[in-house]
Amino acid sequence: MSLSLSSAVTFAPPQDPAVERPLNAPELNAPRITTSSAPQVFAFAAWHSLAWLVFANAIGVLLAAMLLIPSLNGLFDAWTYGRWMPVHLNLQLYGWSSLPLLAFLFKVYAVDREPVAAWSRPVLWVWSSALAIGSVTWITGHSSGKLFLDWTGYSRVLFPLAILATWMLLAYALIRSWNGPEYASPLARAGKIIGLALLFAVPLLLYISASPTLYPPINPDTGGPTGASQLESTLVTIAILLVLPFGLTRRKATRSWPLTVSWTVFFAESILCLGLGRADVSHHRPTQYISLGSLLVWIPLIPTYFAAFEWHPNTRRWRIAFLCWWSLLIPTGWALFLPGILDHFKFTDGLVGHSLLSMAGFVTALLIFVMVQLLGEGGWIFNGTWSFYVWNLSVLAYVLLMSVAGWQEGSHPAFAIVPGTARNIIYALRLLVGVLMFIASADWLIDASKLLREPAYAQIPNARSQIR
Ligand code: HEM
Repeated sequence: MSLSLSSAVTFAPPQDPAVERPLNAPELNAPRITTSSAPQVFAFAAWHSLAWLVFANAIGVLLAAMLLIPSLNGLFDAWTYGRWMPVHLNLQLYGWSSLPLLAFLFKVYAVDREPVAAWSRPVLWVWSSALAIGSVTWITGHSSGKLFLDWTGYSRVLFPLAILATWMLLAYALIRSWNGPEYASPLARAGKIIGLALLFAVPLLLYISASPTLYPPINPDTGGPTGASQLESTLVTIAILLVLPFGLTRRKATRSWPLTVSWTVFFAESILCLGLGRADVSHHRPTQYISLGSLLVWIPLIPTYFAAFEWHPNTRRWRIAFLCWWSLLIPTGWALFLPGILDHFKFTDGLVGHSLLSMAGFVTALLIFVMVQLLGEGGWIFNGTWSFYVWNLSVLAYVLLMSVAGWQEGSHPAFAIVPGTARNIIYALRLLVGVLMFIASADWLIDASKLLREPAYAQIPNARSQIR
């Protein structure tokens, strides 16, 4: 068994690379050893997620072009719009949107420490490979037919296995760092064990829910989700928002009331949601839209909650961005569900705009904020002024364009199908802002690749060289 230098060091508190002591400190004249590989682990996770974002955005541009010029589909033989669409959606969800959350879990479970850190790269490659194989199945016409649950055939097994591989890495990290300082409190231990137990169910749930025979409750008026299920999924998002800061940073000593208020409101709304049940129910029922309206309270609460924590200065730009998107998403999402408005907008471009507001606006800004916090000084890759404004303003323009198109479509259902001047102008502008979004994301990927070449981010010591 080889004993590397780093194995001689017992666990030290996780160090933000930004606040590591300078190399000329007297005690560091001896060979410098660190137990943390945080910069490399998070930079590599950021690179993977950005690679998927850029690829999925390129497909988005192709989709926008196909919608503007339908004859383009003819150039792709069987690989037409309907085949590319699930690839676009799944890569945005399971690639771009999921990998930063994996990085977050790596932080929470101390995967960024050696010797566990060395396994983070293989696990990220396993995840990305399963996603690549899934994409091949969708583009070749194999899908369960369920949006975001298109996994079918062998990819329906492979992707849950990739999640399981991630779970095993987290479990290994938990065991390795059990006696570390972050497990000093019994609450932290209990939280991480419960978290791991819940995560264990994810691969199985994904496998089961991908079955085409299993359906969630639907709104019989629109064929879409019910008010109760909208509330449920938004509360899951809010739960993630409330938990995130605890894994990323520490609380400001002076401010505890926003936490008490937020968690109390969260539990009250969860009880309300349970009371609404999971039956098929119309959005014309006042209980549905009034209870969904209870989410409006989170517009001021979430910014207040996040202000109660300490954040790396590099996060400022994206923190403001995700909070702005949040303040736009909640009231517009609720308004869209109201009787009269939903009836006009359902299954039109208006909802495409809303999806983009949610995913490309709010979720993307939130994920970048999380990655900047994890990367610390390395977070510069997301802070270019040009790409920041181009991305956010393009998403805003996209949402406005699709809202106008959706409203027209609600009045004249043929609007989006039959090419006409107004429709073509809107679709051409959507293509243009799509290209701008693609360029902004490519800029982040180029910078992430540069970051990986910086000495501090380049190498994680090989797992074999670590003591087991
Ligand atoms: C270059 C950037 C992008 C372009 C050009 C683009 C383009 C498109 C197009 C053309 C559609 C199909 C709309 C239709 O069926 O009429 C679509 C749907 C969608 N895209 Fe993208 N997209 C981009 C980025 C993103 C990003 C970053 C996300 C998420 C993080 C995302 C999530 C979605 C979702 C959720 C839908 C489904 C909308 C719905 O049917 O409700 N897209 N996108």
